[in-house]
Amino acid sequence: MPLATARVVTAHPARYIKQLVSHMGHKATTTLRPDGRGTITVSSGTCVLTPAPDRLELTATAVDAESLARVQDVITRHLMRFATREELVADWTAAIDGGELEPTEPVVGEYLLSHHTPADDILGELAAATREATADAACMQVSADEGTLLTMLTRLTGAHFAVEVGVFTGYSTLCIARGLADGGRLLACDVSEEWAAIGRPYWERAGVAERIDLRIAPALETLRALDSEPVIDIAFIDADKGNYPAYYEEIVDRLRPGGLVVLDNVFLGGRVLDPAYQEERHVAMRRLNDLIAADERVDAVMLPVRDGVTIARRR
Ligand SMILES: C[S@@+](CC[C@H](N)C(=O)[O-])C[C@H]1O[C@@H](n2cnc3c(N)ncnc32)[C@H](O)[C@@H]1O
Repeated sequence: MPLATARVVTAHPARYIKQLVSHMGHKATTTLRPDGRGTITVSSGTCVLTPAPDRLELTATAVDAESLARVQDVITRHLMRFATREELVADWTAAIDGGELEPTEPVVGEYLLSHHTPADDILGELAAATREATADAACMQVSADEGTLLTMLTRLTGAHFAVEVGVFTGYSTLCIARGLADGGRLLACDVSEEWAAIGRPYWERAGVAERIDLRIAPALETLRALDSEPVIDIAFIDADKGNYPAYYEEIVDRLRPGGLVVLDNVFLGGRVLDPAYQEERHVAMRRLNDLIAADERVDAVMLPVRDGVTIARRR
């Protein structure tokens, strides 16, 4: 589904959003959220209007290029009509496919990758062994900057008990295990013994193998068998996307106050933003992202790290 954005420079973004939402509400479906964002859905598509300190940001989506042009046109015309005291310019980007979006420009991604505490030889060799043994599947592995983030978050929570859903060849497993406090334990869930076996020698070389309790079974079974007490200090979810909501629910009530649940791939390569993508995983991730943002059990932030990482901290 195509989408386009525009930045309209103005000192009064909130005022224009209110006016447009109120006026267009007679013919279109409109909402105004407590954070000042407005949504206007006309017959040809939807436009989200976001206030920023010095501008109004517009994001339009529609089923095809023609409908998108109509959404852009109707929003732009109404906006201009309300701007009686200043001259506004809505400079729309060319239409792009939501499935091609990345949270950061590739060149920025590369810059981030070269500006974190680098992975050591053990992690580097595990990444190389994964590429050799699993070919295309190696792209499932977390990136080096995400690995550094996981070790840092585990250390910051002083974690004694961690849970991981989605081990693959154990790169993120090693990153979490390294961050644990002395005597800490990581319950690592996956269905593939074969892939996890690739990582074990590296866990041993890093001296953390005895901290890792690998459970080969569907992760939901492993999580549901856990005590219901809030004992988890940090959890990392990086497995089958359709089950993310179920994993989140099993974990969030078992987090101790201050404990973290970290979710990978919350952006799904940009497809969460694009209503054209309606497979089970897209719908599940979209709903979960909305649920977490409104979940009173946690404080949450979504970071543009790789394919999107959400960190939710139990209140
Ligand atoms: C994206 S990979 C994990 C990558 C890993 N975190 C890393 O950094 O290398 C997803 C993993 O989830 C596992 N998986 C898929 N469905 C699962 C399920 N129902 N229960 C447990 N693990 C599952 C797959 O076997 C795969 O190893």
